[in-house]
Amino acid sequence: MTIELIVNDKPLKFDGDPSTPLLYVLRNDAQINSAKYGCGAGQCGACAVLVNNRVVLSCITPASSVKGKIKTLESYEQDKVLGALNKAFIHEQAVQCGYCISGIMIRAKSLLDSNKRPSDQQIKEALDGHLCRCGTHNRIVKAIRRASEGLSA
Ligand code: FES
Ligand code: FES
Repeated sequence: MTIELIVNDKPLKFDGDPSTPLLYVLRNDAQINSAKYGCGAGQCGACAVLVNNRVVLSCITPASSVKGKIKTLESYEQDKVLGALNKAFIHEQAVQCGYCISGIMIRAKSLLDSNKRPSDQQIKEALDGHLCRCGTHNRIVKAIRRASEGLSA
């Protein structure tokens, strides 16, 4: 079966099993390295991407079920919110190994798109499904707050 996707505004054709997880197609066929395989079971958030601006866990999403535009962290230079998050995460030194960060930044973009000035509590609630084994949670929250302040200044 041929599956046609739009990834970061570029067309992508995938020929294969329609049950193939979106994450595999992104990483193996679209050279998308930001989304990561963590648990493979929808439990950690490392594989999060946006489909039509909604967060999707790509490890448990069959590629054939995706209709619409996929956005990943690779598009940060073309996306104002992802760009602001990128700068803020660097400023706050919020990244250790980085494995969780792409999924967290995608979640944070989704949050800031719907709520320009979230409280720390709202940021923490939004990140509830994202695990960070390095324990940089406090810096991650500070970085998202910094990005929101910069965007709404
Ligand atoms: Fe998808 Fe963990 S790898 S939620
Ligand atoms: Fe290492 Fe989060 S920075 S898992």
